[in-house]
Amino acid sequence: MAAKGGCGTSALSHDLHALGYTDVTSIDFSPVCIAAMRARHARCAGLRWAVMDMRALRFPDASFDVVLEKGALDSLLTEERDPWRVSAQGAAALRQVLTEVSRVLRPGGRFVSISFAQPHFRKPHYAQDAFGWSLRHAPYGDAFHYFVYVMRKGERLASPDRALGRRLHQPPPAPDAPRLLLDPDDEDFLLAIEL
Ligand SMILES: C[S@@+](CC[C@H](N)C(=O)[O-])C[C@H]1O[C@@H](n2cnc3c(N)ncnc32)[C@H](O)[C@@H]1O
Repeated sequence: MAAKGGCGTSALSHDLHALGYTDVTSIDFSPVCIAAMRARHARCAGLRWAVMDMRALRFPDASFDVVLEKGALDSLLTEERDPWRVSAQGAAALRQVLTEVSRVLRPGGRFVSISFAQPHFRKPHYAQDAFGWSLRHAPYGDAFHYFVYVMRKGERLASPDRALGRRLHQPPPAPDAPRLLLDPDDEDFLLAIEL
């Protein structure tokens, strides 16, 4: 049984069904999207649709083998100004969803997250012991990469990932701390590159 969060009007749920995943529940908090998808796939009994907020899933604990999201977590961070310093609100929204995903996954189940967010920005959020999963990722695409993150419930995080996750809880640098050691308009640093 698989769940797809923030499905929008993407063809992915139907594609998964065509690939043999015959029990797929897709959610979005937009009633318009869900009504459109329900009508579009009315003949496909294995696809279920629900209006639901991914921060508060109305599913029992340990009820899914796979949870998949594509671009839905990214949509929680559209107001962020600096990917290096995600705001407390942005981090809390991600954490809410990830806590819910971890709760509804069966032991051994997988959470698959597909995003344009690069690993140094996204992995610290996923690499938290509280979620009780391991983490791996792979780039996908030829020129403009996106990233597939796979978390497996019941496995431990690797030490480097755990260390990354700890960084999220460190206090941010003081606002007046120098952020750029180089003048951004000064290209002298190019002279230091040894070929
Ligand atoms: C960038 S779109 C991605 C849609 C689809 N997954 C795709 O790949 O085309 C983000 C989707 O997440 C939904 N969304 C945003 N916040 C949500 C929330 N808190 N709960 C459920 N859905 C949410 C939006 O309505 C939108 O359909």
